[in-house]
Amino acid sequence: MILVTGGAGYIGSFAVLKLSMQNEKIVIFDNLSTGHIETINTLKKINPDICFVQGDLNNISDIENIFKKYEISEVIHFAGLSIVEESIKNPSKYYKNNVAGTVNLLNAMVKYNVLKIVFSSTASVYGEPEYTPIDENHPKKPVNPYGKTKLIIENIMDDYDKAYNLKSIRLRYFNVIGADNLSRIGEWHDTETHLIPNIIKSAYIKTSPFKIFGDDYATPDGTCIRDYINVCDLADAHYLAIKYLRKENKTDVFNLGTGTGTSVKEIFNLTRGVLGKDIPFEIAPKRKGDPAILCASSKKAQEILGWKINHSIKESIKTAYLWEDKLQKLKTI
Ligand SMILES: NC(=O)c1ccc[n+]([C@@H]2O[C@H](COP(=O)([O-])OP(=O)(O)OC[C@H]3O[C@@H](n4cnc5c(N)ncnc54)[C@H](O)[C@@H]3O)[C@@H](O)[C@H]2O)c1
Repeated sequence: MILVTGGAGYIGSFAVLKLSMQNEKIVIFDNLSTGHIETINTLKKINPDICFVQGDLNNISDIENIFKKYEISEVIHFAGLSIVEESIKNPSKYYKNNVAGTVNLLNAMVKYNVLKIVFSSTASVYGEPEYTPIDENHPKKPVNPYGKTKLIIENIMDDYDKAYNLKSIRLRYFNVIGADNLSRIGEWHDTETHLIPNIIKSAYIKTSPFKIFGDDYATPDGTCIRDYINVCDLADAHYLAIKYLRKENKTDVFNLGTGTGTSVKEIFNLTRGVLGKDIPFEIAPKRKGDPAILCASSKKAQEILGWKINHSIKESIKTAYLWEDKLQKLKTI
């Protein structure tokens, strides 16, 4: 059985769906701090065998109870806080939840002899890019506490491999987008910091124009370029990572992006096109710490894991829009 921490959240729920479609047995562990019980209910409706335990990584007995109750073979660890701005204002919350919480999880794994983990890392571990596309050997100099928590965890995992033989696959995601094509699950962050859901939301909440932060970056249209990867493609990578861990029993790290950069203005225009609405926008000052270009080389994941990208940005925007439309309608009920 696979333990999925953070399975009530955005990316975790897609991994649960993918794994359960591959007949894997799943137990989700989540404190519902940013995840939603409705997501769990939807997943259980699709597959009633999915188990859910509400608990917190900062509570050692919550974690140990899972390992006592279920026969866990591997862990996929999504649980964490991931709002960059919040991590700058309140680093203590991030080090406690992400770093200390993960150490509790790893200690329980060692104690109960579960020695395989797939971990949600991030492009933020690289910091300001020194070259592009960024491969896994790029220097790692995170510029905010959130990125630092993820790099610290990766380093801790190396030490746990050496000392306790705990093998980890670290997946460094770039910008994750899209929703389920049947609108069953999707991105649902009460504090939304991501570009596409925020453009879509601004079409519903028309109080002020959508803000594009900076249009004088050294890019063709002056706006930031990012690498947008579909959440279902990302979920596929987790299944491949589990299969790789089972077969190779080896620690490794993989970037997950498309290798293609898209600018904020391009995303904005694509989204406007999909919605068929004219969304007003304004140019706002640049944000601190936003690099001009962040683009992944995912050659390694493609070659070693056999990972393939199956969804286009336009498809992702369409599913994200249908999902947001469903959420907005729920709000009005
Ligand atoms: N969304 C992205 O674009 C992106 C990019 C790079 C990396 N990541 C990483 O991927 C992971 C998942 O991201 P997401 O966007 O799905 O976030 P999310 O907030 O939707 O999901 C995180 C889940 O973890 C749970 N959680 C948090 N702290 C917990 C704790 N102490 N104990 C138990 N459960 C806890 C939350 O309730 C939530 O359900 C995170 O670790 C994030 O840092 C996300």
